[in-house]
Amino acid sequence: MKNASRILELATHILENTTVVNDHLTATGHPQPSFDIDGPTNLTLSSNDAEKARIACIGASIELQDLMQGPIACLRPAVNKSQHSHKTKPYIRAQTDESPQCHKINATSLEAIYRYDIPSKVPLDDTGIPFRDLAERCDMYEPNLRRVLRYAMLYHRVFREPRAGYVMHSAASRLLVEDPAMFDALGLMFDESWQAFARGYTLAHSPSATPWSHYATHPRLAKRFASAMTSLTSNAGQSPQYLATGYPWASLPAGSTVIDMGGSEGHVSVAIATEHDHLRFVVQDLADVISRARLGDEVEEGVKERVRFVAQDFMQEQRVEGEVFLLRWVCHDWPDGYVVRILRNLRPVLRDGDKVVVNDQVMPGVGEVSSVVERQIRFFDLVMLSFFNSREREKADWESLFRNADERFQEIRIWVPEGSSFGIIEATWRSH
Ligand SMILES: C[S@@+](CC[C@H](N)C(=O)[O-])C[C@H]1O[C@@H](n2cnc3c(N)ncnc32)[C@H](O)[C@@H]1O
Repeated sequence: MKNASRILELATHILENTTVVNDHLTATGHPQPSFDIDGPTNLTLSSNDAEKARIACIGASIELQDLMQGPIACLRPAVNKSQHSHKTKPYIRAQTDESPQCHKINATSLEAIYRYDIPSKVPLDDTGIPFRDLAERCDMYEPNLRRVLRYAMLYHRVFREPRAGYVMHSAASRLLVEDPAMFDALGLMFDESWQAFARGYTLAHSPSATPWSHYATHPRLAKRFASAMTSLTSNAGQSPQYLATGYPWASLPAGSTVIDMGGSEGHVSVAIATEHDHLRFVVQDLADVISRARLGDEVEEGVKERVRFVAQDFMQEQRVEGEVFLLRWVCHDWPDGYVVRILRNLRPVLRDGDKVVVNDQVMPGVGEVSSVVERQIRFFDLVMLSFFNSREREKADWESLFRNADERFQEIRIWVPEGSSFGIIEATWRSH
């Protein structure tokens, strides 16, 4: 492990250089850096040594942050990265700029890497390929290819140039070859997400329709979206396993039926069914999704026979009875009025004691979780705004959705299983 001590080396470097900066601030009476309203807005230091230490500290922090986040996060600049641009003063080498335009510019090299499918044209062994040959394979102008890749190496850790003029894979670029879902996630970002961030999804791509109806008529995009989603859910905290083990399924009577609404191709039902062999499952989704849904050979026989698929639009009244109506990662795609409608559509089949179980983000309040976690949640909240005009919801929002839907949704309980990114919101139907 040639990098075994790199993170400690960087941490030491950061401490040493931060000490130099701090000593300088103390000696000169400069105010300490702060984001308060009266904090200093220009951190340029008056001694060259202190300024060099500040720049070294930023460089080491960026590398430490990248190493701690890992290659997948480096491929998602908008969620995870600060932007760094060179500005005019001679000894200022780095300055942060968080404007959305800057995020977009920052992602340009990744966009070119996606469009020209560059990762697949670089050998996976450690021989490397000269820029000239790679440019030929990609049908690109060599100087521009070199500029784009050197930017991506520095900002996103995508590709490396250990020998001058030779491109080799990094962990992140190798992933783009080996995991098609990661490659699809890049495509989704450039073809759909950026435009949606600027204008809203429907204005950008599909006037008069929701993203779901747009996908219904654009199967290639639908497939890429579903694939990109699997790369997003590779985050351990989003595994359906937390729902399978974090809800008291065992307390349901044998033979109880769980209706998995918006259940896609059934992976959540399978996860729960595998843990709880006394339950049956009906996976519901839009007709075109259900028509593609098949449980693969990896699903055990004892599980397969307890999971069936039924097309059902949850904007229409529910027709199938069950003990639990599950909405996993569905409500955050819909504005409040539509979620209320989804819940009200259950009323024709609900019997006293039936449960509605939502498995979705329960937004923490400001500062309640680490800033790294809060950044990701707030990023997805804005993705929901731009794609669906919807939102991630706090505890009180969930409670008021159920109250607004019908006063017979009672005994609302909300908890977050240890380690899970999503909370569980349970309501019990009381018919009187
Ligand atoms: C974000 S996915 C969640 C899938 C799955 N529940 C999970 O946790 O991975 C949302 C699902 O809702 C489905 N959906 C969207 N509109 C729907 C509707 N009107 N009726 C039923 N399903 C719908 C989509 O096809 C998609 O499978």
